[in-house]
Amino acid sequence: MNNMAAIETLNIDERNRQAAEILRTNDRGGYNIPTAGLYPYQWNWDSAFAAWGWSEIDISRAWRELETLFKGQWSTGMVPHIIFHEVDEGYFPGPDVWRTHKSPQTSGITQPPVAATIARKIYEKAPQSGLASVERLFKPMADWHRWFIEQRCESGAVAITHPWESGRDNALDWEAAAEAIDISNVGEYTRRDTSHVNPEMRPRKIDYDRYLALVYLGRDVGWDESKIRELSPFRVADVGMTFILLRACRDLAWLADQIGQSRVEIDGWIAHLEAGCGQLWNEELGCYDSMDLKSGKLSGTKSVASFLCWYAGVDPRTSKTSLEQVMELAPFSLPSLDPASSRFDPKRYWQGPTWPVVNSIVGLGLAEKGETELAERLGKDTFEMILQTGFYEYFTPLTAAGEGGNNFTWTAAVWLAWVTKGPAS
Ligand code: DGY
Repeated sequence: MNNMAAIETLNIDERNRQAAEILRTNDRGGYNIPTAGLYPYQWNWDSAFAAWGWSEIDISRAWRELETLFKGQWSTGMVPHIIFHEVDEGYFPGPDVWRTHKSPQTSGITQPPVAATIARKIYEKAPQSGLASVERLFKPMADWHRWFIEQRCESGAVAITHPWESGRDNALDWEAAAEAIDISNVGEYTRRDTSHVNPEMRPRKIDYDRYLALVYLGRDVGWDESKIRELSPFRVADVGMTFILLRACRDLAWLADQIGQSRVEIDGWIAHLEAGCGQLWNEELGCYDSMDLKSGKLSGTKSVASFLCWYAGVDPRTSKTSLEQVMELAPFSLPSLDPASSRFDPKRYWQGPTWPVVNSIVGLGLAEKGETELAERLGKDTFEMILQTGFYEYFTPLTAAGEGGNNFTWTAAVWLAWVTKGPAS
């Protein structure tokens, strides 16, 4: 081994140690917070990725993470995006604002359903010891997927009722649709996120006003889905949520086979979602896109979620050319917004930065579908960003500078479970 290689190995060992330490430090007893300060509760899709990371260290802790997440599930099947296990004044809006009256206290909206996909990954690592956990989690996961199909898939694609549901809060996919939100009753409030990180890396005030207006709307109708559908001006078929649910249904069907459960109902959901994806193809853009269900218009946004088509197992059509164009413009891919967009902002959350966590699922899909070169490039870029800079929430795609929260659970988790294991892991 030459000197350079020896130094790199030392650094990798150090990053491995730090990643495991981050998972332990962010552990609050059966669940992980994303990062102290900025996100002090259990977040839905963060938690699923945390479980993937834990599966590299402690399989039973990985299953516990998913089981704790489902403790927040509503009787409707919905799994909330935040579970407020212990109140923390450092986050806004807290349970007093959401007023969902659940125990444990939760928010009133959901988040991308990656849990079944991660459950499959954990099970595959240790099938024998995982069987009982899969048997316990199967019905809660199926109930959640059914809730999506019944409450959110009237168009075939998955509708979000709040930008926070997408996990890509300020993505441009719904900026035009969000203009219809009335913010006149929002009043004064104090944001907490901008006291933890630089405001240039976070959504703007107008975005927050709209986020809160939608929380108040949901709260005022007691989080009743049919009333929200009737009264809210905001309903967007999110390309990311649609691809993630479709993939999760495929993995749930696979898990059904492992435990001898019927997959017939799940196969029906898969067919429904596959048909729904067609309407999200944007020919002009050359990739899949989100659609404002109120106006029927595609958003015209080439976002990172467009490139989850391989992960979802749908026909990518000409997406590969679009992906190559985007990657060409970003030394550290994959940016959350096409750098050719006039709105590209390399620091601002989902309007430009590269997110290792999304790279992991885009890369996984590419590797599975034989797009090895692109998958390896994503793996390599993610490796370089974390090796050089550390475990940030997201990175500037132009320089690999770390942005947002630091010591971030899901960045540590994908380092352990995906980056250092190879893109097909
Ligand atoms: C936030 O508070 O920034 C979250 O993204 C909401 O889930």
